[in-house]
Amino acid sequence: MLRDRVRCEAYRQALLSAVRPGDVVLDMGAGTGLLSLFALQAGARRVYAVERTSIAAFARQLVEQNGAADRIEIIQDDVENVQLPEPVDVLVSEWMGGCGVDENLLAPLLASRDRWLKPGGIMLPERVTAWMAPVWDRELDAEMSFFLGQPYGLDLGLVAEGTAQELFIARYHVSEQDLRAEPQPMWSTDAYTCSVEEASSPFRASMQFLVTRAGPFNSLAAWFRAECGAGIVLTNAPDAPATHWGRWVLPLERGLSVERGAAIWVDLICEPDEPGWCDHRWSVRVGDGNWEDHNSRWAIG
Ligand SMILES: C[S@@+](CC[C@H](N)C(=O)[O-])C[C@H]1O[C@@H](n2cnc3c(N)ncnc32)[C@H](O)[C@@H]1O
Repeated sequence: MLRDRVRCEAYRQALLSAVRPGDVVLDMGAGTGLLSLFALQAGARRVYAVERTSIAAFARQLVEQNGAADRIEIIQDDVENVQLPEPVDVLVSEWMGGCGVDENLLAPLLASRDRWLKPGGIMLPERVTAWMAPVWDRELDAEMSFFLGQPYGLDLGLVAEGTAQELFIARYHVSEQDLRAEPQPMWSTDAYTCSVEEASSPFRASMQFLVTRAGPFNSLAAWFRAECGAGIVLTNAPDAPATHWGRWVLPLERGLSVERGAAIWVDLICEPDEPGWCDHRWSVRVGDGNWEDHNSRWAIG
């Protein structure tokens, strides 16, 4: 993530634009403290860097090494337990999974917004929208063909069945030419107005795609577009510069061929589960065919 210059520069530029000299910043889920250091570069008077895992100890060293220990306070705890001595002007967090909400970090982020952000304070990012398109994923096809092809003289069809329930993250090779239809937004999260309750509830999308590029089709790709203020957009869309997120891919059971103008219906539910994870259910129907249902809880492994 630290080497992902697209991600890091988007946050750095967003902080340089949002933070005014003397501001107080909360970095929620600070990890190594990188965003806290960016906030300091932007002129923050004080940064509270909250990180619940032991990487907080490393962040403390990194902050010291950068001569910032007097202005960045590393707090190792769950953000929901933290008591800050003052409200903050800017709340920054890198909470996005491959399609935005799927790392289940949004609810704690918004709970800390409600507790610590000053009226009129700034959220970074401000809005995150999740997008989807039907695609052809060559690697997924190779994987399914292998398991369905009686490898080693064995029937490994069950592995193919499990694979079709699995959510693949970071399918870097799924690019614009693999899209079969125009992408559509699934949901949009406004960091200022979304409630903790909404963030803890299932995210749902029902979409109808019309095929614009005929060809093979075996999965749905998803990504996000994060608006970070001052016109700065961070995205892992197929036509954007590569990030560590790649694309999120939800398979079908079998690859099939779709004609231009064919309809593809998709229902998707992304349900917050344990910290750091959401369960996914997706159903797909092509033309007059039957609905095909998938559930990431059934995935093998
Ligand atoms: C995607 S990483 C981002 C790290 C860092 N901000 C960066 O941009 O490089 C998210 C971090 O949030 C932390 N985290 C998740 N839930 C948290 C919570 N409730 N309280 C504090 N930290 C949390 C995770 O341990 C992880 O280090």
